[in-house]
Amino acid sequence: MQLDPSVVLVSGGAGYIGSHAVHVLKTAGFTPVVIDSLVNGNLWATRGASAFRKGDIGDAGFVRTVCDEFRPVAALHFAAFIEVGESVKAPEKYFMNNREKARVFFDTLAGKGVRNVVFSSTAAVYGEVTESAPIREDRPTRPVNPYGQSKLDAETHLRSITGVNSVALRYFNVAGAEPDAGLGEAHFPETHLIPRIVLPLIDAPEAVQSALGLATGFKIFGTDYPTRDGTAVRDYIHVMDLADAHVRALRYLLEGGKTDVFNLGSGAGYSVKEIVEAARTTLKRSDFKPGVELRREGDPATLIADSTKARDILSWRPERGVEHMIDSAAAWHRSPTYTDTILKKATIASS
Ligand code: UFG
Repeated sequence: MQLDPSVVLVSGGAGYIGSHAVHVLKTAGFTPVVIDSLVNGNLWATRGASAFRKGDIGDAGFVRTVCDEFRPVAALHFAAFIEVGESVKAPEKYFMNNREKARVFFDTLAGKGVRNVVFSSTAAVYGEVTESAPIREDRPTRPVNPYGQSKLDAETHLRSITGVNSVALRYFNVAGAEPDAGLGEAHFPETHLIPRIVLPLIDAPEAVQSALGLATGFKIFGTDYPTRDGTAVRDYIHVMDLADAHVRALRYLLEGGKTDVFNLGSGAGYSVKEIVEAARTTLKRSDFKPGVELRREGDPATLIADSTKARDILSWRPERGVEHMIDSAAAWHRSPTYTDTILKKATIASS
């Protein structure tokens, strides 16, 4: 089968990171074809795609049909479940979706001659991190939850497929939005720090805040960590910088680059209190005072990426700082699309 060198299949392209990657792919001149089951994704998030087909990555017949129709030269694989806490409660759901279905997807692609794959992986593959130094890709991978293990297993399988070149991108903490393109995160439930700070600060509708467990305001989880101010330190990266890294990884593979793995983070750590401070300043809400709760189970003190390898090999550099993440998230969370999506998901969840 003659492949089309501009067509890129994007699984999970109706999700948060996938939809931003589609937007950047299109701008870069590619033809992104989205497949998504819409179990968690949103139809509105596919508006930037050249084509959309609803279906499951674990359905080999569906994937073959889409490959026959569009003849993609490469695939970006985002489709996955992403909640660490849920993965501990329902490990089989994570191993089925993130590992078994990913295997079917990768094998089917290989069978159709799709030999370039960029895979969304996670810092969760590293597992228990006790040191505060930035993490390099050669650090041992010892996931401590089914989410991290399922992603690592998918990485391992992908690397083992003869004739397929792949890049696994291990993300650290992703935030921000591209409101001008009508894109942003609309998770339900929403567990991530930046949206949970931003929503109360922009006075999001009460129904949205209560559906997301924010009725009593934003709470800092733990102030007794061995860090500079007692709160946990993370490496935040803007979703558009992350999307840009995918396009660079894709070009790297299309130019003959070898199978590899890259961390994606800024290399700088922010504590929860520092993010709160940045949000107070950026959103001009000096009156904002967060509450405090005990630590959330399984949260390490410090997670910072060493992304030297991505800088050296992919010439990738994150360009948008924490203020941009907060500001763009605020603009997105004010949009009717976001509010409607959360209210709909809340209604479905309670019915
Ligand atoms: N936090 C709060 N209050 C909240 C929400 C979060 O204090 O309401 C804290 C958390 O305890 C943590 C920090 O903010 O210390 C960041 O929490 P996030 O939930 O935003 O992100 P995590 O670092 O827990 O997880 C992220 C991704 C995971 C991925 C992991 C890899 O969301 O998918 O990084 O390290 F697995």
